[in-house]
Amino acid sequence: METQCLKIETGLLPKAEGSRESETGQEDWPAASREALELAGDLIRRGELVAFPTETVYGLGADALNEDAAARIYAAKGRPSDNPLIVHICRLDQVAEIARDIPEEAWKIMERFWPGPLTVILKKKAIVPDGTTGGLKTVAIRMPSHPVAAALIRVSGRMIAAPSANRSGRPSPTSAAHVYEDMKGRIPLILDGGPVQIGIESTIVDMTGDRPVILRPGFITPEMLEKVAGPVTVDPAVAGREKPVNMVAKAPGMKYRHYAPKGQLVLVEGAGPRVIAEINRLAADREAEGLKVGIIATDETLDSYKKGIRRSIGRRSDPETVAAGLYRILREFDDLACQYIYSESFFEEGLGDAVMNRMLKAAGYRLIEV
Ligand code: TXA
Ligand code: MG
Repeated sequence: METQCLKIETGLLPKAEGSRESETGQEDWPAASREALELAGDLIRRGELVAFPTETVYGLGADALNEDAAARIYAAKGRPSDNPLIVHICRLDQVAEIARDIPEEAWKIMERFWPGPLTVILKKKAIVPDGTTGGLKTVAIRMPSHPVAAALIRVSGRMIAAPSANRSGRPSPTSAAHVYEDMKGRIPLILDGGPVQIGIESTIVDMTGDRPVILRPGFITPEMLEKVAGPVTVDPAVAGREKPVNMVAKAPGMKYRHYAPKGQLVLVEGAGPRVIAEINRLAADREAEGLKVGIIATDETLDSYKKGIRRSIGRRSDPETVAAGLYRILREFDDLACQYIYSESFFEEGLGDAVMNRMLKAAGYRLIEV
């Protein structure tokens, strides 16, 4: 299968991020972008796959209510079919089409944080096929804020089931080039909306119990949710620095082997100068053994490292740049075939939890404290 990659110009839009403009259908798309969106919408209606940008990571989309289309997603990703998909919508009234017994608190957080990087778990209606929810009685729903994602959902006239558009076992894609690397020859179309803004997957909150439970940390933090919906629990399987033992993760995706680089990733935590000294020492040791070493630094520290292949993940003073750089840098060190990767850690409040959740998993929880 030939994979087409079509650029979508979003720069000319009157309003983008965070606006609900997309719900009105009044955007002024350049002709080529409109044609690409119409082609994409057509493919979705025919049960085919289209990769598209969201504000978090690129998604691999298909008609959420078409079981055969959902099956195609699993085949293209090489992913186990009991791992449920997130249903992407573009209007609040679509929630009641696919979910039932929706609690008041759930409406409050959807109204506050949508469109945006938050996925809400609710009880599902029968209309949602088992192929989309991996046989679960619940459904994951998200309204993305990215203008291309919103436009694709609207133009297709469907709700779109989409996991991250990586092959199983690879980091989530944060650019169309990443999607192409993983999905070339497997899907007909990639919509290229440029690099994503956030760079890590949406926060997942389960609203089917007595109080909200965070199943996956992300850009929307527990503190932000608590302001709207009262006390929030963070699933112990995703909190903390240690590898969870004997814990049943409630988001089924978390039980599968998560992305791990081909080389061994080791995180180093402590006061800045000690971290730099330790990473320099470890890198020198490995290089002396003839091994290829990568170092994940920040803009602030890049020049302090003397050995290995050095890359900056972003600015420590601006955690959003660190989140945005994470999957790109992990892919790069895979491509360079580094056997060891040493990284600074980022336990800062807020976005730090979401970044470290991904980093600790990628590192198999190897964390050196100095
Ligand atoms: O930011 C995102 O959420 C991206 C973009 C494309 O929207 N999507 C994404 O999808 O990260 P995926 O498939 O890579 O991760 C979805 C996670 C999985 O861990 C899955 O197990 C969990 O959501 N999930 C889906 N439905 C669920 C449900 N009904 N109950 C619990 N967890 C669920
Ligand atoms: Mg994923």
